[in-house]
Amino acid sequence: MNREAIVAIDGPAASGKSTTAKLAAEAVGYMYLDTGAMYRAITLKALRLRTPLDDEDYLARLAEEARIEFVQDGGCVRVLLDGEDVSEEIRSPDVDTNVSLVSSYPGVRKRLVAEQRRLARGRGIVCEGRDIGTVVFPDADLKFYVDATLEERARRRQKQLIEKGTALSVHEVQQDLEGRDTFDSERETSPLTRAPDAILIDTTGLTIPEQVAVVVDHIRQWRVARQQDRSDQHEGDGAEQ
Ligand code: CDP
Repeated sequence: MNREAIVAIDGPAASGKSTTAKLAAEAVGYMYLDTGAMYRAITLKALRLRTPLDDEDYLARLAEEARIEFVQDGGCVRVLLDGEDVSEEIRSPDVDTNVSLVSSYPGVRKRLVAEQRRLARGRGIVCEGRDIGTVVFPDADLKFYVDATLEERARRRQKQLIEKGTALSVHEVQQDLEGRDTFDSERETSPLTRAPDAILIDTTGLTIPEQVAVVVDHIRQWRVARQQDRSDQHEGDGAEQ
């Protein structure tokens, strides 16, 4: 069967995963799936409803009921929560502060992971998050772990926030990233960790085109190798007849 690759990209906050995943998916014609946006949407829903964030059962029910959709809008992907465009609101500092706690609950993750697997069925996909190569798609065809120094990541995130009108010092941004990374890496369910078979991309000194090229080159090589395997198989089948 001619199938395309499942590509898993994991890494800490603001490491360059999203940009890399999105542009690499575009370059090879794959679907791009930002799983962080799904956890952010559930967090936003909980904050709006003033749900106590220690009520795991209630949060799991929210995740069960929420309708999260991704729609292509020109060059960008919009995130819809129950039909409403929340693409900007899910990146607010309030969601930043609370998303790690909400996404640490197994009940919340169970529903979203099932949805991520459903979305990937039967197509080429570049999926990014924290547990993609370890839990969501442990058999992914290609796995990457994208990282950068904390200072560089804080600088990048601060720039993004300023562009959106939120002024925080690098120090404040750094504290948020560090807090989230520690929480994400130390939680019991699906902690952020580099899968043993993941290719490490340190984006600290790389330009965006350079980091995208690493992923795209691997996908292209994977396609060539797969094509080769298929023709070898055909030849083998022919020889047996
Ligand atoms: O963009 P940034 O790297 O800041 O974060 P994100 O990818 O949008 O993810 C936000 C948060 O969602 C993370 O800090 C994790 O707590 C959680 N998350 C997760 O638990 N599992 C995933 N597969 C993706 C995100």
